[in-house]
Amino acid sequence: MLVLGLETSCDETGVALYDSERGLLADALFSQIDLHRAYGGVVPELASRDHVKRMLPLIRQVLDEAGCVPTEIDAIAYTAGPGLVGALLVGASCAQALAFAWGIPALGVHHMEGHLLAPMLEENPPQFPFVALLVSGGHTQLVQVDGIGQYTLLGESLDDAAGEAFDKTAKMMGLNYPGGPEIARLAEKGVAGRYTFPRPMCDRPGLMFSFSGLKTSALNTWQHSVSAGDDSEQARCDIALAFQQAVVETLTIKCKRALKQAGMKRLVIAGGVSANKALRSSLEKMLGDMKGDVFYARPEFCTDNGAMIAYAGCQRLLAGQHESLAISVQARWPMEQLPPL
Ligand code: KG4
Ligand code: ZN
Repeated sequence: MLVLGLETSCDETGVALYDSERGLLADALFSQIDLHRAYGGVVPELASRDHVKRMLPLIRQVLDEAGCVPTEIDAIAYTAGPGLVGALLVGASCAQALAFAWGIPALGVHHMEGHLLAPMLEENPPQFPFVALLVSGGHTQLVQVDGIGQYTLLGESLDDAAGEAFDKTAKMMGLNYPGGPEIARLAEKGVAGRYTFPRPMCDRPGLMFSFSGLKTSALNTWQHSVSAGDDSEQARCDIALAFQQAVVETLTIKCKRALKQAGMKRLVIAGGVSANKALRSSLEKMLGDMKGDVFYARPEFCTDNGAMIAYAGCQRLLAGQHESLAISVQARWPMEQLPPL
C-alpha cells in the first residue's frame, strides 16, 4: 500500500510517500522557522498561510523524487490533531480534496502517535510492548505502549512541556526560536558545576513532571548574572548546560521509574526533544546499566515530519480503518482515545 503523508500541525509542512512493502520512498519538509523567528515563536495565522503555499509544491517534489504518479497512491494520511487548528485544517482539506479527486481514502492521524511510531522507520525498530517518552514542544508524556492504539498514560507534565521549557529558557536569554537546539549548542561550551538547578518532582514518587519552576530558576539565575554585570556568552553557555542537565536527569529518573513500574526494558523516545544528544546518551547509559534498549528516530524524524504521518496512517489503513469526507481536526486530543488496531 502506497500512502501519501501530510503534516501541518504547527510550523513545518511535511510530505512523504511510504510504501508498506518498499518502505519510505521520499520525504520533504519546509520549515517555517525563519518566518516566525522575528516574533520569538509561532504565529498561527502566518503558519496556516504558509502551509497553503508550500503543500502542493512539496507533494509534487516527493512524487518526482519517488518516481511515482498520483494514480499509484492508494491512500492519504494527514495530521488531524493535536495542533494549531488553522494549520491542521490546511493539511486536512488538502488531503480530503486530493482523496476525493483521486478516488482514494484519506485518514486523519494523531500527531503524537506519528512521533511515537517514527522510530519504526529506522533499521532496528522496537518490538511491542515498550515504554515511550514523548517529548515535544507541546507534550511531555510517559506512555505504556502494548501495540498501535494500545496506550496507557503513565505520567505527563503538569505545566510546561520539556520542549516548551527549552524554548522559553532560550528566549529569556535572548536566543533564537526554537530554543531547544540553541540551548543544546550553547551547553556544549558550558562549564559544568557553575550552576545547579533543581530536578523537579524527583524527590517524591510518581511519574508526573513539572518544568515551569526549572524555567524560573534559569530566569532568576540569568537576571542575577546580568545585574552583576555578566551578560556574556559564557554565562549563557553555563546556564544552558545546567538547564539541560536538569531536564535530562529529570527525564532519565522518570523513565527509569516508568520502566520499572511497567516491568519493561525497552524505551522509545520521540518528539523534537528526543533529538537532544545529551538526553540520548543519558538514556542509553541508563538502559545499558539495566541491560535494556533505547530506540529513537534519526534527528530529522524526531521533529515534525511527513514520514511519521505516512507510516502511522499506513498501519491504520492496512488494518482497514477509514473515514468519511468530513474535514474535521482537533486542537486537543488525548492519545488514549485512539482505537486499537
Ligand atoms: O516534535 P516537535 O518538532 O514539534 C511539536 O510537536 O511540538 O518538537 C519541537 C520542540 C521544540 O520545543 C524544540 O525546541 C525542541 O523540540 N527541540 C529540542 C531539540 N531539537 C528540537 N530540544 C532540545 N534539544 C534539541 N536538540
Ligand atoms: Zn511534533
